[in-house]
Amino acid sequence: MRVLGIETSCDDTGAAVVLNGRKILSNVVSSQISIHQKYGGVVPELASRRHIESIVPIVTEALKEAQVTLRDIDGIAVTQGPGLVGSLLVGLSFAKSIAFAQGLPFVGVNHIEAHLSAIFLEEETPKFPFIGLVVSGGHTSLFRVDGFGKYRRLGQTRDDAAGEAFDKVAKLLGLGYPGGPIIDELSKEGNPKAIRFPRPSLGKNSFDFSFSGLKTAVVNFVKANPPPPQGYSKNLLCDIVSSFQEAVVEVLVAKTFQAVRHQGLKRVVISGGVASNRPLRQKMKEGALQQKVRLYIPSPSFCTDNAAMVGVVGYEYLKRGIRSDLSLNAFSNLPL
Ligand code: KG4
Ligand code: ZN
Repeated sequence: MRVLGIETSCDDTGAAVVLNGRKILSNVVSSQISIHQKYGGVVPELASRRHIESIVPIVTEALKEAQVTLRDIDGIAVTQGPGLVGSLLVGLSFAKSIAFAQGLPFVGVNHIEAHLSAIFLEEETPKFPFIGLVVSGGHTSLFRVDGFGKYRRLGQTRDDAAGEAFDKVAKLLGLGYPGGPIIDELSKEGNPKAIRFPRPSLGKNSFDFSFSGLKTAVVNFVKANPPPPQGYSKNLLCDIVSSFQEAVVEVLVAKTFQAVRHQGLKRVVISGGVASNRPLRQKMKEGALQQKVRLYIPSPSFCTDNAAMVGVVGYEYLKRGIRSDLSLNAFSNLPL
C-alpha cells in the first residue's frame, strides 16, 4: 500500500510517499525558517500563506521522487492536529481535495502520534509496549504505548514545551531561530556545569514537566549579569546555553526513566524535534545502558516535522479500514 503523507502542522510543508508504512519512497520537507527567523518565532499568518504556496510543488516533488503518479497512490494521510489551525487547514483541505478527486481513502492523523511512530521508518523498530517521549517545539509528553492507537499519557508539560524553552532562551540571547539547533551547536564549546540552573521535578510521583521556571532563571541570570555593549564573550555565552541545555536534558532523562521503572517496561522511544539534540541523545543512551533498557531514537531528520511519519500512522489506520470523511476538521488542540 502506497500512502501519500501530508504534514503542515507548523512551519514545515512536508509530503512523502511511504510503502506499507515502513519504506520511504520520498520524503520532501520545505522549511520556512528564513521567513520566521527575523521574528524569532513562527508567525502563524505567514506560515499558512507559505503553506498555500508550497503545497502543490512539494506534493508534486514527493510524487516525482517516488517515481509515482497519483494513480499509484492507495491512500492519503494528513496531519489533523494539534498545531496551528491556519497551517493545518492548508494540508487538510488539500488532502481532502485530492482524496475526493481521485476517489481515494484518506485519514486524519494526530501529530503527536506521528512523532511517536517515526521510529518505524528505521531499520530497527521497537516491539510494543514501550515508553514514548515526544519532545518538540509544541509538546513535551510521556506516554505508555501499547500499540498503534493505544496510548496512555503519563505526563506532559504544565507550561512551555522543551523546544519552546530552547527557542525562547535563544531569542533572549539574540541567537536566532530556531533556538534548539543553535544552542546544541554553541554548547559544544561550553561548560554545562558553569551555571547551576534549576531542575524542575514537580515531585517524585509526577510525570509532568515544567520549563517556564528554568526559562525565567535564564532571564534572571541575564538581568543579574547584563551583557556589555559588545555582547557576552563567546565563552560565557557558550557556558550559559550549555548550562541551560544540561538542565533541560537532565529533567527529560530523569522523568523518562522514572516512567520506565514505574511501568516496568524495557523499551523507550524518543522523538520530536528536541530528540535530535546531541547531549539528550547521549544522556539517554547512557541512562538506557545503566537501566538495561532498549533505546530507540529516530535519525534527526525523522525527529523533526516530516510527512513520512504521517504516512506510517496513515498506513496503520487505512489497512484496518479506518478512514476519515470529508467533514474532518483541523484542531489546534487534539489530545492523544
Ligand atoms: O518536532 P518539531 O520539528 O516541530 C514541532 O512539532 O514543534 O520540533 C521543533 C522544535 C523547535 O523548538 C526546535 O528548537 C527544536 O525542536 N529542536 C531542537 C534541536 N533541533 C530542533 N532542540 C534542541 N536541540 C536540537 N538539536
Ligand atoms: Zn512536530
